[in-house]
Parts: sequence; structure tokens; C-alpha cells
Amino acid sequence: MPIFLDTADLKEIKRFHRMGILRGVTTNPTILLHQGFKGGMRELEARAQEIASLIAPLPLSVEVTTNDPARMIEQAQTFAGWAENVVVKITVHGPEGELENMEIIHDLETVHNVRVNVTAMMSAQQCFLAALAGATYVSIFGGRVNNMGYNACGEIARLRRLLDGLSLKSQIIVGSTREILNVIEWLEAGAHIVTVLPHLLEGMLVHPYSKETVQMFLRDGLKAEAMLKESV
Ligand code: E4P
Repeated sequence: MPIFLDTADLKEIKRFHRMGILRGVTTNPTILLHQGFKGGMRELEARAQEIASLIAPLPLSVEVTTNDPARMIEQAQTFAGWAENVVVKITVHGPEGELENMEIIHDLETVHNVRVNVTAMMSAQQCFLAALAGATYVSIFGGRVNNMGYNACGEIARLRRLLDGLSLKSQIIVGSTREILNVIEWLEAGAHIVTVLPHLLEGMLVHPYSKETVQMFLRDGLKAEAMLKESV
């Protein structure tokens, strides 16, 4: 049940990768923009290659920036050529529900040897179809599902039963984390992977009562050291 980091921030990736707790990284165009990315394929390539080489052989998801079918295929092949561990993110359908995406996902996986992470999905049924099309990863946006008023755990559990029952290879990534408790609840519901924002990962580790306990140990450790010095 691995944890991915949902960021393109190199400092954060290095910090958590050094701890050995990451099993991959996911990005999307919105994350890149929020993290100071100025745009342009050269900068995207440089950033992706830097992250990919830092975490290799763990997977890095990079999302296409277009919904034009020919350009999507071209970008997917280009991104996949940047590093062996690059996985290409493609949305489940176009902005108006265009269905070409699914055909492209199928071709990339079965003909072009490109691993695809199908993204922007809000239901088990969408993920199930993407899994049938051959996607390596199917990403359901748990936080957005919860925000629509129903519990993402139900969708995750149904999806996992379907994938396991039919021996489909797709791994479920649950993204769109909003709260610390999402991580464990989604893994328990059946997610193969949860992709987590850096501040939530830090929040999982740091506990106020642990802090208080560590402070007590250090205070008493100093006292014990002083007593030891006095006794010699
Ligand atoms: C992950 O793969 C998704 O792109 C990401 O978690 C989406 O999160 P959001 O709903 O906060 O945009």
C-alpha cells in the first residue's frame, strides 16, 4: 500500500524520498503552475527529468497539456522518452466529454509501450472502464468525490473488488487528498496507492503529544547527564 507524493516541488520530494517513505510522485499542470512553473516544454522536460532521476526507479506521473488527439499522442510519447520511470497522465475524457481519450489510452498502453495514469476520475465506473482499456494506473479524486457529497471510500472499495475479481492489472491511485485521515481511510478502503500533499504527509508524522514526550525525554536526559557528571 504505497504512498506517492503529489507535488513537483523538488525540495519536498528530496526531503521525503530521503526518509524512504515514498513509492512514487504525481504531478499535474495545476500543481506545476502553483509551484512556480513558468511554462514551456523545455522547463517541463527539465523538471520532469530531474524528479525522475532523483526517484528512479520509482514512477513519476506527468500530465499531457492538451486534449487534441494527435498532440496528446505526440506528447505522451515525448514524455515517456524523457526517462524510463515516467508515466503519462491522460484525463478520462475531454473537457466536453470527448471519448477519444480512452482510445488513445488503449493504444499508448498496447501499441506504443507507454504506461498511462488515467486521471480526473470521480467514480468506480469510470476507473473500471479505464482499467479495461489497459491503464497501468487509474486515478480517482477522493477529495473531490467527498466534496460532491458522497464518501469516496465506497467507490474505492467497489472498484478494488471489481479489479481483483477480474484480475485487471490497473493500480488504484487515490488523489485529491484534503485531510490527513484520508490517507489511511482510502488505503483501508482498497486503494493500492494514495498520493499525498507534502504538508499532509508531514502532518501524519508529527503529533503534538509525541513532541511533548520527546521534550520530556530530552529535558530528563540533560538532567541525567548532569547527575552523571557530578558523580564522576
Ligand atoms: C493526483 O494525481 C491529482 O492530480 C491531484 O491529487 C488532484 O488534486 P486536487 O483535487 O486537489 O486538484
